[in-house]
Amino acid sequence: MNNILIVGGAGYIGSHANKLLSKKGFKTVVFDNLSTGNRELSRWGEFVKGDLKNPADLLRCFKKRRISAVMHFAACAYVGESVTEPAKYYRNNVANTLNLLDAMRAAGVKKIIFSSSAATFGVPSEIPITETHPQSPINPYGRTKLMMEQIIADYAAAYGLEHVFLRYFNAAGADTSGEIGEIHHPETHLIPLILDAAAGTRKDIKVFGTDYPTKDGTCVRDYVHVSDLAEAHALALDYLVKSGKSGGFNLGNGRGFSVREVIETARKVTGKAIKATAAPRRPGDPPVLIASSARAGKILGWRPALFDLDTIIKTAWAWHERRIP
Ligand code: UFG
Repeated sequence: MNNILIVGGAGYIGSHANKLLSKKGFKTVVFDNLSTGNRELSRWGEFVKGDLKNPADLLRCFKKRRISAVMHFAACAYVGESVTEPAKYYRNNVANTLNLLDAMRAAGVKKIIFSSSAATFGVPSEIPITETHPQSPINPYGRTKLMMEQIIADYAAAYGLEHVFLRYFNAAGADTSGEIGEIHHPETHLIPLILDAAAGTRKDIKVFGTDYPTKDGTCVRDYVHVSDLAEAHALALDYLVKSGKSGGFNLGNGRGFSVREVIETARKVTGKAIKATAAPRRPGDPPVLIASSARAGKILGWRPALFDLDTIIKTAWAWHERRIP
C-alpha cells in the first residue's frame, strides 16, 4: 500500500484517523488548509498545506507521490452557519470536492472514504436509523453532505471509483493518550461546552429546548467515540482493498442520551458542579438521532470499543483539562 491521502487530516476526526493509520503502519499524507484544522493535531506522516479550492495544490500533491486511497474529512461543519452562509457551504463542501475528485481521476486514484453525516437523514421517521432510511436533510450542511455522496456515486458509476460513505452520528471524546482531541473555534458542540462549564471558563451550559417529545424533554443523540470512528476508517480501507465493493455505513453506538443525561454524566465524571440553564430550542435540531450500526458491524466488522458515555466524557475531560490555561 502506498500513501493514504488524508484530506482534512488536521481536523478533529481526521487527526484521530491519521494517528491510527500511522500506528497500523500506513504511510499517511495530510492535506489541509488549516482554516479550521490545527497543525498541532497533524503529528504523524507527512503534512502538506494545500487548499481544495486550488486545483494546482491538489495536482502537485498527487503528482509528487503515489497515493493509493483518499480519506476526505475536509468540510465546513456548523449546521447553524450553513443556514446563514449557504454559499460558503456549497462552495467549500460541494464545489471543492469536485476539485478533489477530478484530481483523483487525473492521478488514477480509485478509492475514497468520505466523511458523511447523520445530518443527511433529516428528521428521522424511524429509530434507530438504518442505511435504508430515506435521506432528506433539513439544513444546507446536511444537503452538502448528501450532494457529495451523490456526486461520488455518479463519479463511481462513470469513472469506476470505489467508495465508502461513513455517516457519523455525534463524534465525541478524545484520543486516550491525550495527545490529540477536539479543537473548534468557535466551539458549538455539547460535550466541550459542558466541560467549559465544568472548568469554570463558561458560567453555564444552555439546554436548547426542554419540551421535546423525549424522556426528559431534551434532545437525544448517539455519541460515538472519535477513536472508534477512526477505527471504522481503517476497516473501510481494508474493505475497499479486499472487496473492491462500495457502500454507506451509519456509525453510532445505537444508544441515545438526552442533553440532561450528558450533563449529569459530566458532573459525575468531572466531580464539578455544572450549571444548566433552560434555553429555547435551537432551530434545525431533530428531537432524536440514534444510529443502527448493524451493517458496519456485519460488513466491516466494526465494534466500538469506547462506547460507554462515561468513557467518552472521561477522555474528553482529560484532553480539556490539559488545555485549560
Ligand atoms: N446542545 C445544547 N446546548 C449547547 C449545545 C448543544 O443543548 O450549548 C444540544 C443540541 O441542541 C443537540 C445536542 O446538544 O440537541 C447535541 O448538539 P451538538 O451541537 O453537540 O451536535 P449536533 O447533534 O447538533 O451536531 C452533530 C455534528 C454535526 C452533524 C450532526 C448530525 O456536530 O456536524 O451531529 O446530526 F451534522
